[in-house]
Amino acid sequence: MRTYLVTGGAGFIGSNYINYMFKKYDNEIRIINVDVLTYAGNLENLRDVEDRDNYTFIRADICDRDAINKIFEENDIDRVVHFAAESHVDRSIVNPEVFVQTNVLGTATMLNAAKKAWELPDGSFKEGKKFLHVSTDEVYGSLDDDPNAYFYETTPYAPHSPYSASKASSDMLVKAYMDTYKFPANITNCSNNYGPYQFPEKLIPLHIHNALAGKELPVYGDGKNVRDWLYVEDHAKAIDMVQEKGRLFETYNVGGHNEKQNIEIVKIIIDTLKEELDDSDPRKANLSYDLIKYISDRKGHDRRYAIAPDKIKAEIGWEPETMFAEGIKKTIKWYLNNTEWMEHVTSGDYEKYYEKMYSNR
Ligand SMILES: NC(=O)c1ccc[n+]([C@@H]2O[C@H](COP(=O)([O-])OP(=O)(O)OC[C@H]3O[C@@H](n4cnc5c(N)ncnc54)[C@H](O)[C@@H]3O)[C@@H](O)[C@H]2O)c1
Repeated sequence: MRTYLVTGGAGFIGSNYINYMFKKYDNEIRIINVDVLTYAGNLENLRDVEDRDNYTFIRADICDRDAINKIFEENDIDRVVHFAAESHVDRSIVNPEVFVQTNVLGTATMLNAAKKAWELPDGSFKEGKKFLHVSTDEVYGSLDDDPNAYFYETTPYAPHSPYSASKASSDMLVKAYMDTYKFPANITNCSNNYGPYQFPEKLIPLHIHNALAGKELPVYGDGKNVRDWLYVEDHAKAIDMVQEKGRLFETYNVGGHNEKQNIEIVKIIIDTLKEELDDSDPRKANLSYDLIKYISDRKGHDRRYAIAPDKIKAEIGWEPETMFAEGIKKTIKWYLNNTEWMEHVTSGDYEKYYEKMYSNR
């Protein structure tokens, strides 16, 4: 049975990936989820899988060399899927250091531990071992409004925010391990994800939450910054396909061909909520574009991101399956059906879940 070590599996994409992998492989795989549970880590995202015999949660910091080495010593890890990171650009502008700590040094710790466990005396690596580093399109910097300009795997790195600079640094470290040691790895650079279990500091869940509460919907600058949106399960599938079918040492861009201005997204959220809510629902009365409030632009705000996913399509056959019109509806319905999840996150109650579930284990 193949054993996966997933870092950051209690976060948004990591938990969607774990849920996806168990749906796909059921008892054919084992997953060890290592997460320190920062504010962004929520074990309630993993309720559906937490009782499985082939799932283990370990609370540990990826920067803790001893703890990470111990996991590799006690388990024959076949695959690492490395999500754990500080992920919010606005937080990186306020406190860059923790981004360097987790995203750069934490990645170095993960690489060293895997190298130590997998390296043979002649410097080659045990057969079949693979490390996948999950990264972002933000490392490529910003595009202008030319609709034919895209990020390719060959686009030079030009990060602007402390977040994207830390992710670019971690990518470079992975590249250095591949070049120097022939360390068996891949990098995926993905566009903006949306879907269930996203922490409501990010655009889509924040606006769903605020709109339902009749609160203002803050929009940076002129609202015309463009992001390329991908449904999170399509990202999970891409990661799995890269590990199954991709060429080692390669980078693959993952994107949705789904460019939208931020202001369009906010209006789609309001319109979709209006469609979904019953006329008798008191939350519907508040829904209007009047909730939109333009605020001063984010410092160094990148104008446009757009991924060209040509390589992953040609080599691996991956394509996004969920188109935005369908994905955003699914997402909004999920948040409407999971108000308890949202309440726990916004009240901080989700942080008690670890104590409740794991204090006796
Ligand atoms: N969200 C996006 O749109 C997007 C797009 C492309 C790439 N990515 C990348 O995907 C990965 C996951 O993103 P996300 O949106 O799920 O992030 P997230 O913030 O929702 O989750 C991050 C997880 O990592 C954990 N973590 C943080 N620091 C840790 C540490 N020191 N040790 C162990 N665990 C730690 C947190 O507890 C949390 O569970 C990140 O590497 C991010 O850069 C995100």
